Amino acid sequence: MAQLLITGGAGFIGSHACLSFLESGYSLVVIDNYSNGSIEALKRVTQLASLEKGSKRLKLLSGDICNISDLDSAFNSVDERIDAVIHFAGLKAVGESIEIPLKYWEVNVGGTLCLLEAMKRNNCRTIVFSSSATVYGYPKEIPISESAPIEPINPYGSTKAAVENILFDLAKSEPGWRIASLRYFNPVGAHPSGFLGEDPNGVPNNLFPLISQIGVGRRSQLEVFGANWPTPDGSAIRDYIHVMDLVEGHRAALEVLIDQEPQSFVVNLGSGKGHSVLEVVNAFETVSGKKCPCNFVGRRLGDVACSIADARLAKELLGWETKRNLMDMSYDSWNWQKINPFGYKTNK
Ligand code: UFG
Repeated sequence: MAQLLITGGAGFIGSHACLSFLESGYSLVVIDNYSNGSIEALKRVTQLASLEKGSKRLKLLSGDICNISDLDSAFNSVDERIDAVIHFAGLKAVGESIEIPLKYWEVNVGGTLCLLEAMKRNNCRTIVFSSSATVYGYPKEIPISESAPIEPINPYGSTKAAVENILFDLAKSEPGWRIASLRYFNPVGAHPSGFLGEDPNGVPNNLFPLISQIGVGRRSQLEVFGANWPTPDGSAIRDYIHVMDLVEGHRAALEVLIDQEPQSFVVNLGSGKGHSVLEVVNAFETVSGKKCPCNFVGRRLGDVACSIADARLAKELLGWETKRNLMDMSYDSWNWQKINPFGYKTNK
């Protein structure tokens, strides 16, 4: 079974992916600088995957994708060659990217360049890249297909689009590269065990962690950004995707890259279904039995009324589609937060 390098494996999506790849038989080298990830998440991955202490199937390295020697050490940390890289590491907060754009370019674009150079040096030419639906900016048509214009409206989106371009150029320049850029819609939910989940630093920006924290009493109410969007209930609509579906999408993409002729593709990972903020609030109240008090405020800068993936290409190309619905996402997010009210820390 192949050996993978996972960058950013201690983060929300990365940790779920590590577990899923281990359960499928892959061996992993994980590199993370723990700026937005947790070593505790990886300890739990080890337990959930029932790995023996010191198992050679999971090597954890503290290191940075912007540091050439950290990357070379990762490639050289195992006797077998690294067959592919799953590249999650990066900065991901839209608002923060507007405040510190240079940092976003340095880490997301500079870090990926360092990683691609390290891959070349170490003769590894297969990569699955975490892109984002944010590259589409204000969508002109719903559902959003992969051929829609790429017009990011914030530095975070610009850095994701820039990396996609770098990957296109690389694929054209040298045959042999196998590249998948996966455009995530809104990843939410948690591992069904309740032992892995999303644990943002500080006040969350995103809807699901906010509502979950209201449920356990860490916050008092949800500010709903906009009550008069052109949607049936006036609140904005997003395509939420369960993190377990998302990581299964990565496995499907990797298998296509490994099993077929060298190729590069860009594909949406979404459910193809949209839910409004108020529908999400309702689903949460149902699964948790807790009230989520809402206060309607103005629209958030840069938000759009509706974002839903055209999910057909993923099904055609990868044979993958989402299996979990809004109730599953709400139940698993709530289960995680209920068991771990302060995330991976005992309290904050
Ligand atoms: N929302 C609120 N109140 C809040 C937080 C969010 O009403 O306190 C609303 C937003 O306005 C939006 C919906 O809940 O309508 C979802 O918001 P999130 O912040 O959870 O997610 P976004 O759709 O804004 O963005 C997410 C990621 C981005 C990614 C994008 C891709 O945060 O990194 O999905 O579509 F680029």
